[in-house]
Amino acid sequence: MLVTLSEILNKAEQGNYAVIAPDFTSMASVRFQLEAAEQFKAPLILSYVKHIEPLCPVRSWKKWISIIREECELYDIDICLHLDHGTSVDECRQAVDAGFTGVMIDASTKPFSENVAVTSKVVEFAHAAGVSVEAEIGHVGTAAEGTYLTEDSARSHLTQPDQAEIFARQTGTNCLAVAVGTVHGEYAGEPHIDFDLLAEINQLVSVPLVMHGGSGTGDKNIEQAVALGIRKVNVFSDWIVPAQRETARLITEKPKDIARVATAQQIVIHDILAHWFQISGSVNKG
Ligand code: 13P
Repeated sequence: MLVTLSEILNKAEQGNYAVIAPDFTSMASVRFQLEAAEQFKAPLILSYVKHIEPLCPVRSWKKWISIIREECELYDIDICLHLDHGTSVDECRQAVDAGFTGVMIDASTKPFSENVAVTSKVVEFAHAAGVSVEAEIGHVGTAAEGTYLTEDSARSHLTQPDQAEIFARQTGTNCLAVAVGTVHGEYAGEPHIDFDLLAEINQLVSVPLVMHGGSGTGDKNIEQAVALGIRKVNVFSDWIVPAQRETARLITEKPKDIARVATAQQIVIHDILAHWFQISGSVNKG
């Protein structure tokens, strides 16, 4: 059933686990993610990013979102339908109007005061509609930028604990994405996670903390991050890369066997999410 981002994360806070937030790319991947979550009785944050909009399977985007909402209601676990990396107030407003139960406003590349102003605006109308908000302070960045490779060059992007505390208090965001050493995309090796920094942020900030760039972070790192207050982990590359590779292989070998291609994606999603539910501690928490 659909719940808000706050409801799903508050339960995670009480139970000391993290909820997995995989991005989806199609209606089929929505179903495969929901089926995997239901099998492990794990809560799920279905995450939509705007750049998949061209893959909308029906004419009206709003209709598609309502179909996804209906689908969510068929599963006996807590599910949040969340906008990932909303880039503007308008994008977040559109998502709230369409029926998302959580929205992220990512103004993390803007100056602090602008990030506060934009986030506060989104909080105002989202909360009025009963929708929860995620914001980001510090900047997670991408693997392609390579900042994570050396501890020094990565530091300027990391979240400053005192700023995070002020930001969360001033904006009223329901959860906060922090930069503590992960980046989006595929790593060459394991990232350096600054656990001391994470512990400090967790002490000062009262709302649940979010880790972006979960893929490839390493099981022990994830377990430690969850122990230090991470309550939502975003995961995309970990499932999309092997799923696309397997799809490409099957299309080359058996171009007409469409069902097998779909099943291959389902198997990858099932196996990868099964692992993530285990390391996040979210099995049987849905
Ligand atoms: P990864 O692709 O590194 O898992 O990042 C996903 C993410 O953070 C989406 O917001």
